[in-house]
Amino acid sequence: MKTLKNKIENGTARIGVIGLGYVGLPLAMAFARRGHPVAGFDIDARRVRRLCRGESYIPDVPSSELRESIHAGRFSAAVRFDGLSACDAVIICVPTPLRKTKEPDVSFILDSAKAVAPRLKRGMLVVLESTSYPGTTRELVLPIFESRGLKAGKDFHLAFSPERVDPANKAYGVHNTPKVVGGITPACTKVSALLYGRVAQKVVPVSNTETAEMAKLLENTFRAVNIGLVNEMALICHRLGLDVWEIIEAASTKPFGFMPFYPGPGLGGHCIPVDPQYLAWKMRTMNFEPRFIDLAGVINASMPEHAVSRMAGILNEDGKALKGSRILVLGMAYKPEVTDVRESPSFDVLKLLLERGAKVEYHDPYVPQVEFEGRPMRSVALTPAALRAADVVAVLTAHRKVDYPFVARHARRIFDARNALKGLRGRIVRL
Ligand SMILES: NC(=O)c1ccc[n+]([C@@H]2O[C@H](COP(=O)([O-])OP(=O)(O)OC[C@H]3O[C@@H](n4cnc5c(N)ncnc54)[C@H](O)[C@@H]3O)[C@@H](O)[C@H]2O)c1
Repeated sequence: MKTLKNKIENGTARIGVIGLGYVGLPLAMAFARRGHPVAGFDIDARRVRRLCRGESYIPDVPSSELRESIHAGRFSAAVRFDGLSACDAVIICVPTPLRKTKEPDVSFILDSAKAVAPRLKRGMLVVLESTSYPGTTRELVLPIFESRGLKAGKDFHLAFSPERVDPANKAYGVHNTPKVVGGITPACTKVSALLYGRVAQKVVPVSNTETAEMAKLLENTFRAVNIGLVNEMALICHRLGLDVWEIIEAASTKPFGFMPFYPGPGLGGHCIPVDPQYLAWKMRTMNFEPRFIDLAGVINASMPEHAVSRMAGILNEDGKALKGSRILVLGMAYKPEVTDVRESPSFDVLKLLLERGAKVEYHDPYVPQVEFEGRPMRSVALTPAALRAADVVAVLTAHRKVDYPFVARHARRIFDARNALKGLRGRIVRL
């Protein structure tokens, strides 16, 4: 413990990061920036090759920074896990998706733990960052390590620290987002707090791993439920003939007790639609029905259908049907200014439109091509001709890069699911 403490404090602790994606790569860079030697591991050979060439695939990590770290000998990437043995601390940042049955898929966590276990040595610290249900670190990861005959809190340290990365957020990054940490034992909490203190301005130690796991699920369930609430408000306002966006703006002037959330064509991203389901699954194993999570899930899942029915309404006014109409979708990424399309509701809308016989194209400055139901689709250029050719232009993701006054000038009809064309004139219908 003393050696690890010293190594952390003097910046020589070697950090291993397993999973070099949206979470792992920025974290690896943050430790490298503080002078730590960082060894990255990923099973995706293509990603590792790109990293070794100094090419970043994560927009928040500039390639120049990656190259600098490699040249300074502070970062390396590998597909083989042998280098883990030389690490003093190992941080696991692998995906935690859902299975088709909506059950948690913790196989990536288990695979990573199994890669660490044979290389676990006395004094090592292992931290899990992947979002999962309360109990994951203690019930799934700890036994894999303790089967090696070492004891957590004494021979090695194990903790959970939820990742809070918000891709494309220019204001908050690793250094200024407080980091919650909870260990298997108080000693584990202490040493992991010390580690994160190297890269985060504020560390928030909590009682145990379960508390840290649950804190993350509260944060993301809070968002999912509030988005569900505001989506229901959008459905209500539509029936009442009221403008939900103006209402949110008015309510937001209250200086206390209100926080704005915005409606949209559905929930997207790797976290908000997925994480609450981890908690829901866990609670069902304990015979508890998580009603808020389920209700928000039902409302949020109904939004793509609502968006499509609003587009059908616009076409109907023009004496047209969805079948055979041309729809130009603006935005395939799940949120503005990112290249990530995971769980993007644009796919759900696209699917519904195609099922109803519409001819759909898309434009997204961040997503040059996507794979949709096994076939590739390419982003079309945003030209006056492309805008005029569409019976409806549907704004599904409000990228700031898109020239909305230009869209408003040339499109015949616009369905704006994000209030991106606020204040602009044109034949615009808002969600
Ligand atoms: N992306 C976000 O905004 C975000 C925010 C907060 C929390 N999280 C959570 O962080 C975790 C990681 O998410 P992400 O967005 O970075 O995922 P990602 O898909 O961007 O990256 C994960 C990486 O792990 C690699 N990987 C998978 N299995 C592996 C294994 N056994 N060994 C080594 N590498 C392996 C993958 O190849 C991939 O490169 C998830 O639990 C997620 O819920 C993500």
